[in-house]
Amino acid sequence: MDKLIATGGGPLKGRIRISGAKNAALPLMIASLLTDDTLRISNIPHLHDITTTMELLGQLGVRLQVDEKLAIETDASGVGSVRAPYDLVKTMRASILVLGPLTARFGRAEVSLPGGCAIGSRPVNLHIKGLKSMGAEIRIENGYIIADTGGSKLRGARIFMDMISVTGTENIMMAATLAEGVTTIENAAREPEVVDLADCLNAMGANISGAGSDEIMIEGVERLHGADHRVIPDRVEAGTFLVAAAISGGEIRINDVIPRHLEAVLDKLREAGCGLKSGEDWIELTTPESRLRSVNIRTAPYPAFPTDMQAQFVLLNSVADSTATVVETVFENRYMHVHELQRMGANIELDGNTAVIKGVKSLYAAPVMATDLRASACLVLAGLVARGETTIDRIYHIDRGYHCIEEKLAQLGASIRRVPGYYLERRSA
Ligand code: UD1
Repeated sequence: MDKLIATGGGPLKGRIRISGAKNAALPLMIASLLTDDTLRISNIPHLHDITTTMELLGQLGVRLQVDEKLAIETDASGVGSVRAPYDLVKTMRASILVLGPLTARFGRAEVSLPGGCAIGSRPVNLHIKGLKSMGAEIRIENGYIIADTGGSKLRGARIFMDMISVTGTENIMMAATLAEGVTTIENAAREPEVVDLADCLNAMGANISGAGSDEIMIEGVERLHGADHRVIPDRVEAGTFLVAAAISGGEIRINDVIPRHLEAVLDKLREAGCGLKSGEDWIELTTPESRLRSVNIRTAPYPAFPTDMQAQFVLLNSVADSTATVVETVFENRYMHVHELQRMGANIELDGNTAVIKGVKSLYAAPVMATDLRASACLVLAGLVARGETTIDRIYHIDRGYHCIEEKLAQLGASIRRVPGYYLERRSA
Protein backbone atom coordinates (compact mmCIF):
# COMPACT_ATOMS: atom_id res chain seq x y z
CA MET A 1 0.00 0.00 0.00
CA ASP A 2 1.45 3.39 -1.00
CA LYS A 3 2.43 5.91 1.64
CA LEU A 4 3.20 9.60 1.54
CA ILE A 5 6.28 11.01 3.21
CA ALA A 6 6.09 14.70 4.07
CA THR A 7 8.88 16.76 5.57
CA GLY A 8 8.01 19.91 7.46
CA GLY A 9 9.66 22.92 5.98
CA GLY A 10 9.31 26.38 4.61
CA PRO A 11 6.27 28.29 3.40
CA LEU A 12 4.21 27.01 0.47
CA LYS A 13 4.27 29.55 -2.32
CA GLY A 14 3.01 29.66 -5.87
CA ARG A 15 -0.10 29.06 -7.92
CA ILE A 16 -2.16 26.00 -8.73
CA ARG A 17 -5.26 25.11 -10.70
CA ILE A 18 -8.24 23.66 -8.88
CA SER A 19 -9.76 20.49 -10.38
CA GLY A 20 -13.41 19.74 -11.03
CA ALA A 21 -15.47 18.91 -7.93
CA LYS A 22 -15.69 15.22 -7.03
CA ASN A 23 -19.05 15.71 -5.32
CA ALA A 24 -20.47 17.37 -8.43
CA ALA A 25 -18.91 14.96 -10.95
CA LEU A 26 -20.28 11.78 -9.31
CA PRO A 27 -24.01 12.69 -9.49
CA LEU A 28 -23.52 14.22 -12.96
CA MET A 29 -22.05 10.97 -14.29
CA ILE A 30 -24.88 9.02 -12.68
CA ALA A 31 -27.46 11.36 -14.26
CA SER A 32 -26.44 9.77 -17.57
CA LEU A 33 -28.73 6.85 -16.59
CA LEU A 34 -31.72 9.14 -17.19
CA THR A 35 -31.27 9.37 -20.96
CA ASP A 36 -30.41 7.15 -23.89
CA ASP A 37 -28.70 10.07 -25.64
CA THR A 38 -25.04 11.03 -25.22
CA LEU A 39 -24.13 13.11 -22.17
CA ARG A 40 -20.72 14.83 -22.31
CA ILE A 41 -19.21 15.96 -19.00
CA SER A 42 -15.93 17.89 -18.96
CA ASN A 43 -13.57 18.99 -16.16
CA ILE A 44 -13.79 15.56 -14.53
CA PRO A 45 -11.15 15.17 -11.80
CA HIS A 46 -8.77 12.21 -11.96
CA LEU A 47 -9.77 10.31 -8.81
CA HIS A 48 -10.50 6.81 -7.55
CA ASP A 49 -14.16 7.64 -6.85
CA ILE A 50 -14.53 8.60 -10.52
CA THR A 51 -13.04 5.26 -11.60
CA THR A 52 -15.39 3.46 -9.21
CA THR A 53 -18.37 5.32 -10.69
CA MET A 54 -17.22 4.41 -14.20
CA GLU A 55 -16.98 0.78 -13.13
CA LEU A 56 -20.45 0.91 -11.60
CA LEU A 57 -22.01 2.53 -14.68
CA GLY A 58 -20.12 0.07 -16.89
CA GLN A 59 -21.58 -2.88 -14.94
CA LEU A 60 -25.08 -1.48 -15.47
CA GLY A 61 -24.41 -1.36 -19.21
CA VAL A 62 -23.53 2.30 -19.78
CA ARG A 63 -20.88 2.78 -22.47
CA LEU A 64 -18.25 5.34 -21.49
CA GLN A 65 -15.52 7.10 -23.37
CA VAL A 66 -12.89 9.28 -21.75
CA ASP A 67 -10.78 11.67 -23.79
CA GLU A 68 -7.28 12.91 -22.98
CA LYS A 69 -8.68 16.13 -21.48
CA LEU A 70 -10.69 14.13 -18.94
CA ALA A 71 -14.07 14.68 -20.51
CA ILE A 72 -16.41 11.70 -20.31
CA GLU A 73 -19.06 10.75 -22.85
CA THR A 74 -21.77 8.41 -21.66
CA ASP A 75 -24.29 6.36 -23.58
CA ALA A 76 -26.93 4.65 -21.45
CA SER A 77 -29.02 3.36 -24.35
CA GLY A 78 -27.95 -0.23 -23.67
CA VAL A 79 -28.47 -0.53 -19.89
CA GLY A 80 -29.02 -4.21 -19.13
CA SER A 81 -28.79 -4.38 -15.35
CA VAL A 82 -30.33 -2.39 -12.49
CA ARG A 83 -28.14 -3.86 -9.75
CA ALA A 84 -25.45 -1.91 -7.89
CA PRO A 85 -23.41 -4.62 -6.13
CA TYR A 86 -22.07 -4.55 -2.59
CA ASP A 87 -18.37 -4.59 -3.50
CA LEU A 88 -18.70 -1.26 -5.34
CA VAL A 89 -21.21 0.42 -3.00
CA LYS A 90 -19.13 -0.42 0.09
CA THR A 91 -16.11 1.44 -1.35
CA MET A 92 -18.14 4.47 -2.37
CA ARG A 93 -21.35 5.45 -0.62
CA ALA A 94 -22.28 7.87 -3.40
CA SER A 95 -23.23 4.74 -5.42
CA ILE A 96 -26.62 5.10 -3.68
CA LEU A 97 -27.24 7.87 -6.25
CA VAL A 98 -28.15 5.26 -8.90
CA LEU A 99 -31.28 4.35 -6.90
CA GLY A 100 -33.40 7.32 -8.08
CA PRO A 101 -32.41 7.39 -11.77
CA LEU A 102 -32.74 3.59 -12.23
CA THR A 103 -36.16 3.49 -10.56
CA ALA A 104 -37.38 6.49 -12.57
CA ARG A 105 -36.24 5.22 -15.95
CA PHE A 106 -36.53 1.43 -15.65
CA GLY A 107 -39.10 1.04 -12.85
CA ARG A 108 -36.71 -1.08 -10.78
CA ALA A 109 -33.42 -0.79 -8.91
CA GLU A 110 -31.42 -3.10 -6.67
CA VAL A 111 -28.81 -1.20 -4.72
CA SER A 112 -26.72 -2.66 -1.94
CA LEU A 113 -27.05 -0.97 1.43
CA PRO A 114 -23.78 0.91 2.00
CA GLY A 115 -23.12 -0.56 5.45
CA GLY A 116 -20.87 0.96 8.11
CA CYS A 117 -18.82 4.03 7.44
CA ALA A 118 -15.80 5.52 9.15
CA ILE A 119 -17.50 8.85 9.82
CA GLY A 120 -20.67 7.67 11.48
CA SER A 121 -23.71 5.56 10.68
CA ARG A 122 -24.72 7.60 7.58
CA PRO A 123 -28.15 6.09 6.94
CA VAL A 124 -30.06 6.29 3.62
CA ASN A 125 -33.59 6.46 5.07
CA LEU A 126 -34.29 9.83 3.42
CA HIS A 127 -33.47 8.49 -0.06
CA ILE A 128 -35.86 5.58 0.54
CA LYS A 129 -38.61 7.73 2.04
CA GLY A 130 -38.47 10.09 -0.95
CA LEU A 131 -38.88 7.33 -3.52
CA LYS A 132 -41.67 5.71 -1.50
CA SER A 133 -43.59 9.00 -1.49
CA MET A 134 -43.29 8.95 -5.29
CA GLY A 135 -45.02 5.56 -5.47
CA ALA A 136 -42.11 3.09 -5.54
CA GLU A 137 -42.44 -0.02 -3.40
CA ILE A 138 -39.26 -0.52 -1.45
CA ARG A 139 -38.10 -3.51 0.54
CA ILE A 140 -34.77 -4.60 1.94
CA GLU A 141 -33.70 -8.08 0.89
CA ASN A 142 -30.35 -9.76 1.57
CA GLY A 143 -28.67 -6.41 2.22
CA TYR A 144 -30.09 -4.82 -0.93
CA ILE A 145 -32.62 -2.01 -1.33
CA ILE A 146 -35.10 -3.26 -3.93
CA ALA A 147 -37.22 -0.51 -5.47
CA ASP A 148 -40.09 -1.38 -7.81
CA THR A 149 -42.77 0.77 -9.43
CA GLY A 150 -44.82 -2.20 -10.66
CA GLY A 151 -44.46 -1.01 -14.23
CA SER A 152 -45.93 2.47 -13.60
CA LYS A 153 -44.12 5.78 -13.68
CA LEU A 154 -43.08 7.47 -10.46
CA ARG A 155 -45.57 10.14 -9.34
CA GLY A 156 -44.70 13.68 -8.29
CA ALA A 157 -44.98 14.25 -4.53
CA ARG A 158 -44.33 16.78 -1.78
CA ILE A 159 -41.29 15.53 0.11
CA PHE A 160 -40.04 16.99 3.37
CA MET A 161 -36.44 16.08 4.24
CA ASP A 162 -36.19 15.57 8.04
CA MET A 163 -32.47 16.31 7.76
CA ILE A 164 -30.66 18.25 5.08
CA SER A 165 -29.03 15.62 2.87
CA VAL A 166 -26.92 16.41 -0.19
CA THR A 167 -27.08 13.06 -1.98
CA GLY A 168 -30.66 12.54 -0.69
CA THR A 169 -31.75 15.77 -2.41
CA GLU A 170 -29.85 14.80 -5.57
CA ASN A 171 -31.33 11.30 -5.71
CA ILE A 172 -34.91 12.52 -5.40
CA MET A 173 -34.32 15.42 -7.80
CA MET A 174 -33.01 13.04 -10.47
CA ALA A 175 -35.91 10.60 -9.97
CA ALA A 176 -38.46 13.42 -10.15
CA THR A 177 -37.28 14.63 -13.57
CA LEU A 178 -39.01 11.63 -15.21
CA ALA A 179 -41.97 11.34 -12.79
CA GLU A 180 -45.55 12.17 -13.65
CA GLY A 181 -46.47 15.59 -12.24
CA VAL A 182 -44.72 17.97 -9.90
CA THR A 183 -42.36 17.07 -7.04
CA THR A 184 -41.42 19.53 -4.33
CA ILE A 185 -38.42 18.88 -2.09
CA GLU A 186 -38.68 20.86 1.14
CA ASN A 187 -35.69 21.44 3.40
CA ALA A 188 -33.52 20.60 0.38
CA ALA A 189 -29.72 20.82 0.44
CA ARG A 190 -28.46 24.12 -1.03
CA GLU A 191 -24.91 23.00 -1.85
CA PRO A 192 -23.36 24.26 -5.13
CA GLU A 193 -23.08 20.62 -6.25
CA VAL A 194 -26.90 20.30 -6.09
CA VAL A 195 -27.20 23.44 -8.23
CA ASP A 196 -24.65 22.09 -10.72
CA LEU A 197 -26.66 18.88 -11.07
CA ALA A 198 -29.91 20.84 -11.55
CA ASP A 199 -28.22 22.97 -14.25
CA CYS A 200 -27.09 19.87 -16.11
CA LEU A 201 -30.51 18.18 -15.79
CA ASN A 202 -32.20 21.33 -17.10
CA ALA A 203 -29.77 21.34 -20.04
CA MET A 204 -30.95 17.76 -20.63
CA GLY A 205 -34.55 18.97 -20.86
CA ALA A 206 -35.67 18.71 -17.22
CA ASN A 207 -37.83 21.36 -15.62
CA ILE A 208 -36.27 22.18 -12.23
CA SER A 209 -36.58 25.46 -10.33
CA GLY A 210 -35.40 26.61 -6.92
CA ALA A 211 -32.10 24.65 -6.79
CA GLY A 212 -29.81 26.53 -4.40
CA SER A 213 -32.77 27.37 -2.12
CA ASP A 214 -34.36 25.07 0.46
CA GLU A 215 -37.35 24.33 -1.76
CA ILE A 216 -36.80 22.69 -5.13
CA MET A 217 -39.64 22.14 -7.62
CA ILE A 218 -39.37 19.55 -10.38
CA GLU A 219 -41.98 19.17 -13.06
CA GLY A 220 -41.59 15.73 -14.60
CA VAL A 221 -41.03 15.43 -18.36
CA GLU A 222 -41.54 12.53 -20.77
CA ARG A 223 -37.85 12.09 -21.60
CA LEU A 224 -34.44 13.71 -21.18
CA HIS A 225 -31.94 14.21 -23.97
CA GLY A 226 -28.15 14.58 -24.16
CA ALA A 227 -26.19 17.67 -23.11
CA ASP A 228 -22.70 19.05 -22.73
CA HIS A 229 -21.80 20.11 -19.19
CA ARG A 230 -18.68 21.34 -17.37
CA VAL A 231 -18.22 20.30 -13.72
CA ILE A 232 -17.85 23.19 -11.22
CA PRO A 233 -14.50 23.61 -9.40
CA ASP A 234 -13.86 21.68 -6.19
CA ARG A 235 -14.45 24.08 -3.30
CA VAL A 236 -13.05 21.59 -0.78
CA GLU A 237 -9.82 21.09 -2.72
CA ALA A 238 -9.56 24.88 -2.98
CA GLY A 239 -10.11 25.33 0.76
CA THR A 240 -7.58 22.62 1.58
CA PHE A 241 -4.82 24.35 -0.42
CA LEU A 242 -5.67 27.72 1.15
CA VAL A 243 -5.26 26.18 4.61
CA ALA A 244 -1.99 24.51 3.52
CA ALA A 245 -0.58 27.89 2.49
CA ALA A 246 -1.93 29.61 5.61
CA ILE A 247 -0.43 27.24 8.20
CA SER A 248 2.93 27.17 6.43
CA GLY A 249 3.17 30.98 6.46
CA GLY A 250 3.10 31.07 2.67
CA GLU A 251 1.19 32.75 -0.12
CA ILE A 252 -0.84 31.15 -2.84
CA ARG A 253 -2.98 31.93 -5.84
CA ILE A 254 -5.59 29.35 -6.78
CA ASN A 255 -7.08 29.53 -10.25
CA ASP A 256 -10.25 28.03 -11.73
CA VAL A 257 -12.28 28.44 -8.58
CA ILE A 258 -15.64 30.05 -7.75
CA PRO A 259 -14.89 32.27 -4.73
CA ARG A 260 -18.54 32.67 -3.64
CA HIS A 261 -18.73 28.89 -3.05
CA LEU A 262 -16.07 29.33 -0.35
CA GLU A 263 -17.44 32.30 1.56
CA ALA A 264 -17.71 30.64 4.98
CA VAL A 265 -14.15 29.27 4.64
CA LEU A 266 -12.70 32.59 3.42
CA ASP A 267 -14.36 34.40 6.36
CA LYS A 268 -12.60 32.08 8.80
CA LEU A 269 -9.23 32.47 7.06
CA ARG A 270 -9.66 36.25 7.26
CA GLU A 271 -10.54 35.96 10.97
CA ALA A 272 -7.36 33.89 11.42
CA GLY A 273 -5.38 36.87 10.11
CA CYS A 274 -4.82 35.93 6.44
CA GLY A 275 -5.02 38.48 3.66
CA LEU A 276 -7.41 37.51 0.87
CA LYS A 277 -8.12 38.90 -2.56
CA SER A 278 -10.34 37.35 -5.19
CA GLY A 279 -11.56 37.86 -8.73
CA GLU A 280 -14.12 36.08 -10.83
CA ASP A 281 -12.28 32.73 -10.85
CA TRP A 282 -9.25 33.14 -8.58
CA ILE A 283 -8.30 33.67 -4.93
CA GLU A 284 -4.99 34.92 -3.51
CA LEU A 285 -4.01 34.35 0.10
CA THR A 286 -1.18 35.93 2.08
CA THR A 287 -0.27 35.16 5.68
CA PRO A 288 0.49 37.46 8.62
CA GLU A 289 3.99 37.90 10.09
CA SER A 290 2.69 36.73 13.46
CA ARG A 291 1.09 33.35 14.24
CA LEU A 292 -2.41 32.67 12.94
CA ARG A 293 -5.27 33.51 15.30
CA SER A 294 -7.42 30.64 16.59
CA VAL A 295 -10.93 30.54 15.09
CA ASN A 296 -14.12 28.95 16.42
CA ILE A 297 -15.90 26.73 13.89
CA ARG A 298 -19.36 25.17 13.76
CA THR A 299 -20.04 22.93 10.77
CA ALA A 300 -23.49 22.92 9.16
CA PRO A 301 -25.06 22.48 5.71
CA TYR A 302 -24.24 25.06 3.00
CA PRO A 303 -23.93 28.03 3.06
CA ALA A 304 -22.53 27.55 6.59
CA PHE A 305 -19.05 26.17 7.27
CA PRO A 306 -18.62 22.78 5.49
CA THR A 307 -17.97 19.58 7.42
CA ASP A 308 -15.54 18.61 4.64
CA MET A 309 -13.23 21.48 5.82
CA GLN A 310 -13.50 20.67 9.55
CA ALA A 311 -10.36 18.51 9.79
CA GLN A 312 -8.22 21.12 8.01
CA PHE A 313 -9.37 23.82 10.46
CA VAL A 314 -8.75 21.57 13.48
CA LEU A 315 -5.18 21.47 12.17
CA LEU A 316 -5.06 25.24 11.61
CA ASN A 317 -6.19 25.77 15.20
CA SER A 318 -3.61 23.24 16.42
CA VAL A 319 -0.80 25.62 15.39
CA ALA A 320 -2.63 28.94 16.01
CA ASP A 321 -2.00 31.39 18.86
CA SER A 322 -4.71 30.63 21.44
CA THR A 323 -7.69 28.36 22.12
CA ALA A 324 -10.65 27.62 19.84
CA THR A 325 -13.67 25.37 19.78
CA VAL A 326 -14.76 23.30 16.80
CA VAL A 327 -18.27 21.81 16.81
CA GLU A 328 -19.15 19.13 14.23
CA THR A 329 -22.94 19.10 13.73
CA VAL A 330 -23.27 17.20 10.42
CA PHE A 331 -21.66 13.83 11.14
CA GLU A 332 -21.19 11.92 14.37
CA ASN A 333 -17.71 10.48 14.85
CA ARG A 334 -15.81 12.65 12.38
CA TYR A 335 -12.79 13.30 14.58
CA MET A 336 -10.44 10.41 13.79
CA HIS A 337 -7.75 12.89 12.70
CA VAL A 338 -7.72 14.29 16.24
CA HIS A 339 -6.04 11.19 17.68
CA GLU A 340 -3.39 11.27 14.97
CA LEU A 341 -2.78 15.02 15.46
CA GLN A 342 -2.42 14.41 19.22
CA ARG A 343 0.36 11.95 18.39
CA MET A 344 2.07 14.80 16.54
CA GLY A 345 1.92 17.00 19.63
CA ALA A 346 -1.39 18.82 19.11
CA ASN A 347 -3.25 19.85 22.25
CA ILE A 348 -6.87 18.85 21.60
CA GLU A 349 -9.59 17.76 23.99
CA LEU A 350 -12.60 15.97 22.60
CA ASP A 351 -16.00 15.97 24.23
CA GLY A 352 -18.67 14.40 22.03
CA ASN A 353 -18.95 16.49 18.90
CA THR A 354 -16.86 19.34 20.32
CA ALA A 355 -13.09 19.71 20.06
CA VAL A 356 -11.29 22.26 22.19
CA ILE A 357 -7.95 23.07 20.62
CA LYS A 358 -5.11 24.91 22.31
CA GLY A 359 -2.60 26.00 19.71
CA VAL A 360 1.03 24.82 20.11
CA LYS A 361 4.13 26.44 18.58
CA SER A 362 5.00 23.40 16.49
CA LEU A 363 3.96 19.85 15.72
CA TYR A 364 6.38 16.91 15.54
CA ALA A 365 6.59 14.24 12.86
CA ALA A 366 5.12 10.81 13.61
CA PRO A 367 3.90 7.85 11.61
CA VAL A 368 0.17 8.45 11.10
CA MET A 369 -2.70 6.69 9.44
CA ALA A 370 -5.34 8.17 7.15
CA THR A 371 -8.86 7.13 8.13
CA ASP A 372 -11.18 9.03 5.83
CA LEU A 373 -10.84 11.37 2.94
CA ARG A 374 -10.70 14.76 4.64
CA ALA A 375 -8.91 13.46 7.73
CA SER A 376 -6.11 12.26 5.46
CA ALA A 377 -5.76 15.66 3.79
CA CYS A 378 -5.40 17.18 7.26
CA LEU A 379 -2.60 14.72 8.13
CA VAL A 380 -0.70 15.44 4.92
CA LEU A 381 -0.87 19.15 5.68
CA ALA A 382 0.20 18.49 9.27
CA GLY A 383 3.25 16.63 7.95
CA LEU A 384 4.23 19.69 5.93
CA VAL A 385 4.42 21.94 9.00
CA ALA A 386 5.70 19.40 11.55
CA ARG A 387 9.35 19.06 12.54
CA GLY A 388 10.86 16.02 10.85
CA GLU A 389 9.56 13.39 8.43
CA THR A 390 5.95 12.24 8.72
CA THR A 391 4.83 9.01 7.04
CA ILE A 392 1.15 8.90 6.17
CA ASP A 393 -0.23 5.42 5.72
CA ARG A 394 -3.46 4.21 4.04
CA ILE A 395 -3.47 7.05 1.57
CA TYR A 396 -5.96 5.34 -0.71
CA HIS A 397 -8.46 7.52 1.14
CA ILE A 398 -6.78 10.65 -0.19
CA ASP A 399 -6.64 9.28 -3.74
CA ARG A 400 -10.42 8.94 -3.60
CA GLY A 401 -10.86 12.69 -3.48
CA TYR A 402 -7.74 14.75 -4.25
CA HIS A 403 -6.39 14.99 -7.78
CA CYS A 404 -2.55 14.52 -7.62
CA ILE A 405 -2.28 16.12 -4.19
CA GLU A 406 1.46 15.51 -3.80
CA GLU A 407 2.23 16.93 -7.25
CA LYS A 408 0.24 20.08 -6.57
CA LEU A 409 1.85 20.51 -3.14
CA ALA A 410 5.32 19.92 -4.62
CA GLN A 411 4.51 22.62 -7.19
CA LEU A 412 4.14 24.96 -4.20
CA GLY A 413 7.55 23.94 -2.84
CA ALA A 414 6.46 21.25 -0.39
CA SER A 415 8.78 18.39 0.39
CA ILE A 416 6.53 15.40 -0.17
CA ARG A 417 6.86 12.12 -1.99
CA ARG A 418 4.88 8.96 -2.61
CA VAL A 419 6.54 5.67 -1.77
CA PRO A 420 5.17 2.32 -2.89
CA GLY A 421 4.23 0.27 0.19
CA TYR A 422 6.41 -2.71 -0.74
CA TYR A 423 9.53 -0.47 -0.70
CA LEU A 424 8.91 0.69 2.86
CA GLU A 425 8.05 -2.83 3.98
CA ARG A 426 11.35 -4.14 2.57
CA ARG A 427 13.31 -1.27 4.11
CA SER A 428 11.89 -2.01 7.57
CA ALA A 429 12.24 -5.82 7.24
C1 UD1 B 1 -22.33 14.61 0.96
C2 UD1 B 1 -20.92 14.72 0.42
C3 UD1 B 1 -19.91 14.67 1.56
C4 UD1 B 1 -20.24 15.72 2.61
C5 UD1 B 1 -21.71 15.62 3.04
C6 UD1 B 1 -22.14 16.76 3.96
C7 UD1 B 1 -21.14 13.70 -1.77
C8 UD1 B 1 -20.82 12.56 -2.67
N1 UD1 B 1 -20.70 13.62 -0.50
O1 UD1 B 1 -22.45 13.33 1.58
O2 UD1 B 1 -18.61 14.92 1.03
O3 UD1 B 1 -19.43 15.53 3.75
O4 UD1 B 1 -22.57 15.65 1.88
O5 UD1 B 1 -21.90 17.98 3.36
O6 UD1 B 1 -21.75 14.67 -2.20
N2 UD1 B 1 -28.66 11.47 6.77
C9 UD1 B 1 -29.69 10.73 7.30
N3 UD1 B 1 -30.45 9.98 6.45
C10 UD1 B 1 -30.23 9.95 5.10
C11 UD1 B 1 -29.17 10.72 4.56
C12 UD1 B 1 -28.40 11.47 5.42
O7 UD1 B 1 -29.91 10.73 8.50
O8 UD1 B 1 -30.96 9.25 4.39
C13 UD1 B 1 -27.79 12.27 7.67
C14 UD1 B 1 -26.34 11.83 7.66
O9 UD1 B 1 -26.13 10.75 8.54
C15 UD1 B 1 -25.63 13.09 8.08
C16 UD1 B 1 -26.48 14.19 7.44
O10 UD1 B 1 -27.74 13.60 7.16
O11 UD1 B 1 -25.64 13.21 9.48
C17 UD1 B 1 -25.92 14.78 6.18
O12 UD1 B 1 -25.55 13.76 5.29
P1 UD1 B 1 -25.64 13.91 3.72
O13 UD1 B 1 -25.79 15.34 3.34
O14 UD1 B 1 -26.64 12.96 3.19
O15 UD1 B 1 -24.21 13.42 3.27
P2 UD1 B 1 -23.89 12.73 1.91
O16 UD1 B 1 -24.86 13.20 0.89
O17 UD1 B 1 -23.70 11.27 2.11
